[in-house]
Amino acid sequence: MDSDMDKKEAKKRIEELRETIGEHNRRYYVENSPTISDFEYDMLMQELAAMERKYPEFASPDSPTVKVGSDIDTAGKPVKREFVQRRHRYPMLSLGNTYDMGEVNAFFGRVRDVEPDFTMSAELKFDGTAICLTYRHGELAMALTRGDGTEGDDVTENVLKISNIPHRLERSSVPFPDEFEIRGEIYMPYKAFDRLNAEREIDEEPPFANPRNAASGSLKLLDPEEVGRRGLECTLYHLIGENLPFSTHIEALEAARSWGLPISEHIRLCHDMDEVDTYITDWDVRRKFLPFATDGIVIKVNELEIQKRLGYTAKSPRWATAFKFQAERALTKLLSIDYQVGRTGAVTPVANLEPVQLSGTVVKRASLHNADQMKLLDIHIGDYVYVEKGGEIIPKITGVELSKRTGGILPPEFPAYCPVCGTKLVKNEGEAKSFCPNKDGCPPQIKAGILHFVSRKAMNINAGEATIDQLTEAGFIKDSSDLYGLGMEQLLTLEGWKERSAAKFLASIEASKQVPFPRVLFAIGIRYVGETTAKALARHFKSIDSLAAATREELADVDEVGDIIADSVTAYFSDLKHLEFLLKLRSAGLKMELDPDGGEKISDIFGGAAIVITGNFSIPREEMKKKIEAFGGKNTGSVSAKTAYLLAGEKPGPEKMKKAEKLGIRIISESDFNEMTERTEG
Ligand code: IVH
Repeated sequence: MDSDMDKKEAKKRIEELRETIGEHNRRYYVENSPTISDFEYDMLMQELAAMERKYPEFASPDSPTVKVGSDIDTAGKPVKREFVQRRHRYPMLSLGNTYDMGEVNAFFGRVRDVEPDFTMSAELKFDGTAICLTYRHGELAMALTRGDGTEGDDVTENVLKISNIPHRLERSSVPFPDEFEIRGEIYMPYKAFDRLNAEREIDEEPPFANPRNAASGSLKLLDPEEVGRRGLECTLYHLIGENLPFSTHIEALEAARSWGLPISEHIRLCHDMDEVDTYITDWDVRRKFLPFATDGIVIKVNELEIQKRLGYTAKSPRWATAFKFQAERALTKLLSIDYQVGRTGAVTPVANLEPVQLSGTVVKRASLHNADQMKLLDIHIGDYVYVEKGGEIIPKITGVELSKRTGGILPPEFPAYCPVCGTKLVKNEGEAKSFCPNKDGCPPQIKAGILHFVSRKAMNINAGEATIDQLTEAGFIKDSSDLYGLGMEQLLTLEGWKERSAAKFLASIEASKQVPFPRVLFAIGIRYVGETTAKALARHFKSIDSLAAATREELADVDEVGDIIADSVTAYFSDLKHLEFLLKLRSAGLKMELDPDGGEKISDIFGGAAIVITGNFSIPREEMKKKIEAFGGKNTGSVSAKTAYLLAGEKPGPEKMKKAEKLGIRIISESDFNEMTERTEG
């Protein structure tokens, strides 16, 4: 019998896991940029499922073990909904998955208990993003993403641009049904993925972590022509409809193939577990030579009638399961270690490796994270090391093959001085990383500081990494304040600059002088002062002068400010170099205090969108108007085609409501509005 204490702990852990998994779901499905590997994710899910089995009193229909992850962006951004959502005729479920052959055997056993005589279809598990196609009278009528499993985004226009998806079916000896759905995966072959990331690097856009993210990101683009250029492909693996004239899954897919639909060549009929086993062992090797990513194999009961009898759980079919391959690793030789200095001065050891093939790409470099990690791995130059790809794009070293060590070589020394500027490195208590403290004199840190200054959420100046490199290398700018002294003639001496691009750049510098004080405070890059802290400090102290004059105690009085931030702020303002820098910014005309009208902006989530209000709210109307402006909205009087939202309180004006409905303008309630703004305030 568990004590109350155990139960309390269990409840806490369950909640923690649900929250963590929820966050990873959002990163994976919505942002297309996961931060942990699939394996790590699956382990979290397994832990949660085990805890919920042990403590059924804490089960919840909202748990990620029950609900399918959603690719619909509900992060509350009041942007125009890019795609129309439509209901799935049949819910779009996920698959149970495992890394353990024992569990595949157990799946087999569960099916046999229901029906001893059955066959299986073994297939590759394509690593892309799920799609549901509807064909009506032989024409592609609709394509929906999985969404939350119940409703998906209508991406038909985009899917029509994917080269191997037929717009119209071919006739064959098997007539196609008047209407059916066929589901599958949209994926990006490695070649297209490498090309896309190379292009993104040139355009200074962040690369996609893996082909899966690239595929789902590309499928959700707003411009179908661009989707067409991305080189996406499709494979279909599940035909559904009413009264279909097939008795097995494989027969259905064969028919689909005969209508010109893309069906994998690698589907095999298996009669027993031995055959499934052989298929798995075989493909664990062969998949490395495929031109696209696979992350496992799927085993399905082949007979449709038995499938029907087995049915579904809330989340997945009982007639199918997935066996996932362990993350691929490669063994290669460690040639040398570089020490890179990043934006914050953190020094990261990066391994140079003998080039090796890993999941379709050639790996030459891998991260070693920090000195502790190097010690933990007990790594020596010349060692044979294991490299793996996690959620991130940079592969990591996960182990050393000690049996291949030849000896005689000492472990590498982590440098004591900055490899770029020579300053003595510091390592703070409790931190794993070493830092170069020469923030204002170390070239990579200076550049990073300028990049932060110009970034969109800071001063929003039209310059990427290449531009900043050019300007610093030419000696035109030594810190961000020098941007305000740049002129046309100077810029035209730089390679590749034309009058037009220079004028655009200078205009964005000019426009940055209107950026409100909280963002300026964020832009100057005081350590630990992020966007939120900058807003809180600006709201509290109102001007840079009173912030600079604040004592540690006065700083710590501000809600979101703790000791570390208070120390960092006082240290910043006690450095003469910083005061000179701020003086230059002030004379350039930047805002060093809150606007006098008190129209203090909390955020710009509404981006200037026109919002009309009607009816009564829980706060006075004047307050409501201020709140709209504080979040970057524009309060306007009457509803027109230019109105973005009608914010309707109690007893809304019928005329305004009617007009908004007629013009298709989104009507939001006070609680909708609060939800939107609360989500962004943090
Ligand atoms: S069948 C209701 N077959 O993997 C059964 N899924 O982790 C639907 N996937 O949601 C799935 N290759 O997006 C099936 N040969 C295959 C697959 C496959 C990839 C994806 C699919 C599914 C996910 C589950």
